[in-house]
Amino acid sequence: MNPKTILISGANGGIGSCLVRAASSRWPEAKIFAVARDERKLIALGRDLPHFMALAYDLTHPQGAKAMAEVLAAETDTIDLVIHTLGVLNGLGQRPEKSLKEVDEKALAETFRINTMSAIWLGQAIKPFLQRKNSWGHVMILSAKVGSIGDNELGGWYSYRMSKAALNMGIKTMALEFRRSNCPGALVAVHPGTTVTDFSKDYVKNWPAERLATPEMTAERLLKLAEMLEPEHNGKFLHWDGSELPW
Ligand SMILES: NC(=O)c1ccc[n+]([C@@H]2O[C@H](COP(=O)([O-])OP(=O)(O)OC[C@H]3O[C@@H](n4cnc5c(N)ncnc54)[C@H](OP(=O)(O)O)[C@@H]3O)[C@@H](O)[C@H]2O)c1
Repeated sequence: MNPKTILISGANGGIGSCLVRAASSRWPEAKIFAVARDERKLIALGRDLPHFMALAYDLTHPQGAKAMAEVLAAETDTIDLVIHTLGVLNGLGQRPEKSLKEVDEKALAETFRINTMSAIWLGQAIKPFLQRKNSWGHVMILSAKVGSIGDNELGGWYSYRMSKAALNMGIKTMALEFRRSNCPGALVAVHPGTTVTDFSKDYVKNWPAERLATPEMTAERLLKLAEMLEPEHNGKFLHWDGSELPW
C-alpha cells in the first residue's frame, strides 16, 4: 500500500495526532488531510510536515462533514486511506457509569452524537472519494472492544458500550452499502488497544505496563494494520493486530 491521500479525523487527539505524524513519516509523499475542531492546534501539528492540510470542521454535525467534503473536493477526487478517531468515554465528561442508576439522558445522547453519529456523517461525506475502478481506498473507524456485545462480561460503562455497539452496526451497514456502490476498498471497525491518552489515563493507573501502549505505538500498529487491509476485510471488526473480534 502506498497511499497518496490520507484523511485522519480527530487529528488533535492522542491517537489521531500521532497517526498524522506517523503517516507523514511512513509515506512522505502522501498528502495528509487532518480534520479536527481547533484550527490553531491543527496548524501547529502540521507545521513541519511536507504535505499537510488542516481541515477545521466538526464532524459531529452533518453540516461540518458536508463543508469539509466541499473543501476536500477542490483538492482531490480520491482518498486512499481514511482513519476516523473521534471518541469520548462520556459525552458530558462524566465518569463512565458503574450502574444503571447513573445513566443520564443528556450524557447518553451526547455520547451517541459524538461516537456513533460522527462516523455516519463522515461516511456520507467521503463516499464519493472512495468510488473508483483501478485502486481501492480503505476506511478504518476506531471502535472499542468494550463495544462488542459478544465480549461483554464485565458490564458497566453503558453510554460508551452502547454508542460503540451502535457504531459497529453503522460500520457494518456502511461497509455493505459502500461495496454495492463501487467502493472497492475495506471499511472496518478497529479496536486500537488500550492506549495512554487523555481519554484513558484516569482508568489505567494500576494497569501493568505490558497491557498499555503509548499513542505513538498505537499509531504505528494502526498504520501496519492499514497496510494489511484487503477488500475481503470489508465490514469486519478488527483488533489492531489484525485478528477478528466478535460483534
Ligand atoms: N485510548 C484508548 O485506550 C482507547 C481504547 C479503545 C478505543 N479507543 C478509541 O480510540 C479513539 C481515539 O481515542 P484517543 O485515546 O485518541 O482519545 P483522545 O485523545 O481523547 O481524542 C479524542 C478525539 O475525539 C475528539 N472529540 C472529543 N469530543 C468531541 C466533540 N464533542 N466534538 C468533536 N470532537 C470531539 C477530540 O477532538 P478535540 O481534540 O477537538 O477535543 C479528539 O480528537 C476513540 O474513538 C476511542 O473510543 C481508545
